[in-house]
Amino acid sequence: MKALMAIGAVVGVIGLFLLTGMVLGIIPSNTVRLVEGYMPMQMLFELALFVAGFAGLSYFLNSMGMAIPRFWQGILFWAFILLYLKYRVYPPIPFSVRAMYGTVSLIAVFMWMSSNEEDWKKFKQPILNVLDAQSGFNKVLRYVYLVLLPILIGGFSYMSMKPTTEEPIELRTVHPAPPASTKVHGKSYVLQTAQNPYRVNLEGKYDQEFTNSLIVEQSMGRLMKPNANPWDPKAEGYLKYVREGGEIFFQNCHFCHGDNLNGRGIHAFAFNPIPANFTDPGTIAQLQETFIFWRVSKGGIGLPNEGFPWASVMPPWEQHLTTDEIWKVILFEYWHTGYYPRTWD
Ligand code: HEC
Repeated sequence: MKALMAIGAVVGVIGLFLLTGMVLGIIPSNTVRLVEGYMPMQMLFELALFVAGFAGLSYFLNSMGMAIPRFWQGILFWAFILLYLKYRVYPPIPFSVRAMYGTVSLIAVFMWMSSNEEDWKKFKQPILNVLDAQSGFNKVLRYVYLVLLPILIGGFSYMSMKPTTEEPIELRTVHPAPPASTKVHGKSYVLQTAQNPYRVNLEGKYDQEFTNSLIVEQSMGRLMKPNANPWDPKAEGYLKYVREGGEIFFQNCHFCHGDNLNGRGIHAFAFNPIPANFTDPGTIAQLQETFIFWRVSKGGIGLPNEGFPWASVMPPWEQHLTTDEIWKVILFEYWHTGYYPRTWD
């Protein structure tokens, strides 16, 4: 029995040591890994070890005449559970769930403390002592609890209920700095040097001047250039790719960005931020084509830190479109709005 308790006590001390390290942030909380799939079993096992450890510890403290009072046993055990949930369990549990677990374990601790009359008396004693305030120390404690605590809690509630007149801070950078390169479908693209493979002249060579001359007129009504109709069945090269991009656009993008590319798609106003209006000179017109390639591929969730609060619903299209389709739909967006992509100047 004694040997068993000794083992328990050693395990308890090691466990407490590790947990303290995690609470203080000296030991990363996933040092002794919780294995995915086995986590519940592992946790139950670990907690059982801890309980054995505590039993062993209190056995030895008892036999050395340094027993921890019943009241503090309960409090410490509950604190242990809260710390365990917060610092040991990884990935982290949300606060609301931890609050639920905390309440349930508080009830369990109460049941443990009140499991027999004698223990319950021991548990209540310190509380009654403070309320009776027979000694000077308890008197001070009583004042603290009965006066200071309500004031503090009142203060906290007042501060949290008080309406503020300030607007919540949302400094979203609409066009954050892009990364130097981006990886789409396993291939890396350096944004400074990558080119739209479909922006080509009749010889099939990258040629922005040539393709710009075929882009729709940027006047009201966005007129098509003469002899540059992408829907002509005989259209070849750049114009044919514009048409293919258009098909992709009307299959995927117009719900949000609108069939006039003005950001007024049928779903547009369900979102904040609303989908980009490509006819506005503030969007694709002032951006490099590779920037658009990066944004379309990675979507709202791919926004870097400056894009906070990342509330954009723009989908990461690399999950639905091929690289070629992404380049083509971009070609179409420039063609239709009559804007030229910005070049590196
Ligand atoms: C579910 C709605 C939705 C769909 C569908 C959608 N987008 Fe977006 N898109 C957005 C929203 C919202 C924004 C603005 C917020 C942002 O910049 O992420 C945006 C932004 C963009 C931008 C950035 C413009 C800029 O000024 O930085 C581009 C480019 C773009 N979308 C292209 C596309 C393309 C191409 C498709 C289709 C393949 C598409 N979007 C489909 C919602 C959508």
